[in-house]
This record gives sequence, structure tokens and C-alpha cells, in this order.
Amino acid sequence: MTDDSPRITWLAAGQAFSANWRSATGAPPPGRVIVVDDTITADRAWHLACEGTAMLWHADFQNARQLLAAMTRRADRKLRKAKVAPQRTPQELFHLHRQSQAQRARALAMLLVPINADYRVPLHRAPDLSAACRAAWGLPDLSLGPSVVSLRELLGLVGAHEWRKNGVDIPALDATVHPHYGVFSPLRGEYLDLVEDAPLPPVLSTHSLAFDIGTGTAVLALLLVQRGVSHVIATDNDERALACARDNVARFGLAERIAVRAADLFPEGRAALIVCNPPWVPARASTPIERAVYDPESQMLRAFLSGLAAHLLPGGEGWLILSDLAEHLGLRTRAELAALIADAGLTVLGRLDVRPRHGKALDRSDSLYAARSAEVTSLWRLGVAGS
Ligand SMILES: C[S@@+](CC[C@H](N)C(=O)[O-])C[C@H]1O[C@@H](n2cnc3c(N)ncnc32)[C@H](O)[C@@H]1O
Repeated sequence: MTDDSPRITWLAAGQAFSANWRSATGAPPPGRVIVVDDTITADRAWHLACEGTAMLWHADFQNARQLLAAMTRRADRKLRKAKVAPQRTPQELFHLHRQSQAQRARALAMLLVPINADYRVPLHRAPDLSAACRAAWGLPDLSLGPSVVSLRELLGLVGAHEWRKNGVDIPALDATVHPHYGVFSPLRGEYLDLVEDAPLPPVLSTHSLAFDIGTGTAVLALLLVQRGVSHVIATDNDERALACARDNVARFGLAERIAVRAADLFPEGRAALIVCNPPWVPARASTPIERAVYDPESQMLRAFLSGLAAHLLPGGEGWLILSDLAEHLGLRTRAELAALIADAGLTVLGRLDVRPRHGKALDRSDSLYAARSAEVTSLWRLGVAGS
């Protein structure tokens, strides 16, 4: 946040007020803002939120939390009630789903709270959230004055901070990794089983170097080292991911074996094994956090495949981890993927598959149930064609 960051303005008792506007999604400050307190009902708040009026809360913090929970229940009810014509294609269903998710997020972001420059929330019964704010926003800049933020976003920071503190259990490592705010979390860990089980290319026994492209928490780099790879270069192009990867590598005491580097995909040189788990849905991300899942026009996938052969040692393998959800949603075909692989001068040496175990794949009320329940995540073992 800087001096020229956007400001939010509102009127209270006929007087104009303003503050800095904080939004991780880059959403502009809401144009219509009213000050509300505990006297507002959940129905009224939900109605105002749906018509785009933001509500700046000036009462007990815990009551604001309860109001947000009540608004969330109304949002979920609305989603469940939405009737979808049965003749919709999977692609149409996906776009409707994204649209209603965006509307839901916009409405739920309409409940706002003030936060001081030192990250103290000046509301009755507000807990100390400063550690979570520091982890997500950096050290406070006391010269900036007070800000306003959506309560939902603030509670999201707190949830993320809990994950960071407690870590995510990774059975394959018999340990936890600690995702930072905004970094892809290996919570749905079935793809890790694939990396644990795939046969290592024999050339690793003489050239024990692997690249982990788009490392996130560094979980794949850690797994490769556990499998006996001597050195890994782990890259990412996101500052938060790089800091997170370094943190996890240090926690495992593996800084000598895993080098974390800022790069657009590949580092210099060649390796015997190159792993990559790119975002798997070719569509636009609505928030920066979604960029780990959504990759418009499969940009990262295409760039990884087209650069892979030039970075593999003779006899080396590229391991592409990719869910086929996009195929079930009508956003990419298997033939397109096969063509991308072949056009990059690569050949498929083998494939390991796993089905998702997460609850969403079993939720029949989800509008994307048909696609989610058919999803398979694969580890594609790729070699250089003709070598
Ligand atoms: C789906 S996440 C996978 C993270 C981790 N490898 C894992 O499996 O848990 C994709 C990662 O790729 C990174 N990424 C996206 N585009 C990239 C690029 N051009 N170069 C390097 N990393 C990139 C993102 O920042 C994100 O951390």
C-alpha cells in the first residue's frame, strides 16, 4: 500500500470521511458506503450487499462476524436455489458457475471494517489480528493512517495464517509444509502420491539434478529429495511463493540441496528430471490467489511443454502433473493436449493416474458435479521424441 493507493469515502452524520482502501483482489473501493451497526438485520444487510451498497461496520466485531456468517448462509441458499436448465453444455455450466461465484464473492465483500495503520481493528471485542496482517501485507507503515477492508478478506488472512502456523500434513513426507498467504497449498494431496510412485529416470543415478518448475510451497522439490535426488533447483515467478518455498526448505534443513530461484519457468541449464504442476483450468483467474488454478489459454502449460526438451539431459524425463477437469468442462480436449506434447518434440513414456478424494468430487448438489466426479489427475512422463 502506498500514498497513491485508492481511498474509500463515506458520509456519517452529514460529515465526509475517507480512509485507505485495502483489497487483495485489486477491487476498486465501493462507490456507495453506509455506516451500520448491530441494529441491521441479516436480511437487510444481504439485500443491500446484493444491490452493491457497502456497509462499514461500527459496532461489536464478533457481531459483524455473525452477520457475515448469516449473509454467507443466504448466499449459499441462493446458489442452491438457482435453477440450471438441463440442456446446458459443461462449458456453459462452468461459465455460469464462475459468474455466480463472482457475484457471491462481490456481495459478501460488502461488509467492511476499519483497520488502523498498526493493524489494530478499532472495534469492541476485536481480536489481535496483527500477526496475520503482517504475514499477508508485510510490516505496517504507520505513516499511512487508517484503512478499510472487507471483513471476509480479513478473516481469510486469519485462516491463511492458521494454515501457515500449523502447516498442512504431507503423509508422503511424514511432515508438514507451511503454505504462506496467497501460495498454492497442497491440501488436495493425491497428486503427491503420483510423484512418490513414478519410476525415476535412470540418468538421475549419474546426474542427480532435478528442476521443480512453479514450486509454490516447494513440496515437490522436498519429495524429490526424499526420493534420493541430490539437488533440485526450484523456480517460481511469484514473490510470495519464493519466500514460502525458502521458508519450507529451511524448515527441512535442505537449503544445501534445494536452490529456490526466481525465474519465468526454467532456470539455466539442463536436468535429468523436470517436474511441473501448472494451473489446470484454462480460464481467467478472478483474484490473484486463483492464479495457481486458472491459466488463461493454458499459457503456463504451453510454455512448459515447448521449453521442456531444451532443458532435459539426454535420457531425462519431464513429469507434467495435470488434472483433466478442463476436458470434462469442455475447455480443452485430450487431442489438444496430445498435439501440444507432440508439437514440442516430446513423446509420452508413461502415465500414472489418480482420482480426487476431496469432498467436492462427491457433492451432487454442486453444479459442476458431473465434471468433478469424472476428474482424473495424471502424471505424464515425457521424454524427447526420437532420442
Ligand atoms: C498449481 S501451483 C503448483 C505449486 C507446487 N508445485 C505444488 O505442486 O504444490 C503452480 C505454481 O506455478 C507458479 N507459476 C505460474 N506461472 C509461472 C511461471 N511462468 N514461472 C514460474 N512459476 C510460475 C505459480 O506461482 C504457482 O506457485
